Amino acid sequence: MKKIIIDCDPGIDDSLAIMLALNSPEVEVVGITIVAGNSPVTMGFHNAKKILSFLGRLDVPVFVGADRPRVREYVNALDTHGEDGLGESFLPEVPGQEIPDKTAVSFLRETLKEGGVSVVALGPLTNLARLIDEDLEAFLSIERLVSMGGNFRSHGNCSPVAEYNYWEDPDSAKVVFDTLYEHHGRIEMVGLDVTREIVLTPEILDQMKKVNSVTGDFIEKITVFYFKFHWEWEHIRGCVINDPLAVAQFINPNILTGIEAFTEVETSGISMGQTVVDSMGFYRKESNAQIFTRVDKKTFWEMFLTRILGITQSEYKERFAQFFT
Ligand code: BDR
Ligand code: CA
Repeated sequence: MKKIIIDCDPGIDDSLAIMLALNSPEVEVVGITIVAGNSPVTMGFHNAKKILSFLGRLDVPVFVGADRPRVREYVNALDTHGEDGLGESFLPEVPGQEIPDKTAVSFLRETLKEGGVSVVALGPLTNLARLIDEDLEAFLSIERLVSMGGNFRSHGNCSPVAEYNYWEDPDSAKVVFDTLYEHHGRIEMVGLDVTREIVLTPEILDQMKKVNSVTGDFIEKITVFYFKFHWEWEHIRGCVINDPLAVAQFINPNILTGIEAFTEVETSGISMGQTVVDSMGFYRKESNAQIFTRVDKKTFWEMFLTRILGITQSEYKERFAQFFT
């Protein structure tokens, strides 16, 4: 079992990623840290608790981190995720859940220093940049850093060139990428080039409800709003579920393939939040990032659906394989 901390901003697809991680025997989620992103941090904290309660895993500790980006003004994504950050499912808050005194950064620092712990980051990189400010050694102890964010050849989702997590806090993303470069580290960047390929369609959701009505109905409650958003803005039937792909990549590093390249994040102007990927080696700089460009969709969906629905591979083949030919 590999130990991971999930740093996230739940968030509809963050919730699906948490569900995947907690149903995966290869990983032990030692904690969840919340960052301001899709939803404000306090809302993100309570949303994480709602998901953990649904999974019967309130034993997993949740810590609250940065409530705003490093430099620029905070812009949430409640237009995408609904006014409650969970697709306007309006699930009740889990009673008796107090925000712990220990901050996300303190938890990251203490836990990472034990060694052998990875981070799967599913939101803006504000908490990680703060960790770099406070304790570089702890940041450099991260075993693997997998981040959902950025884009290379695919267009952005907040501007023509920028993806939300890095656009929301470009300065923190830059600190993380630059620090890795300086210290010969590496980030696994699961960007829109690959996550856009992962579309939960109404047909898949219908089948999920038939196979496991408890989980299927729950996922329907939190994704209906997301479906509507995708149809209105991108004319996609269904919704792109970005974050679970980062968890899947952590578990099975063969799901995604791509290139190694020096990458820098732009922090201002019309390109704010863009990941400038030097795929041609113009800058003659050592790679600090693995940039994924291709995804094995079948393997992803088999992992995701068998695990969150608790079905066997043969049940999966019978019910779902038709969707992923
Ligand atoms: C990312 O932004 C958020 O809306 C999602 O949770 C995901 O992490 C996609 O751009
Ligand atoms: Ca997210």
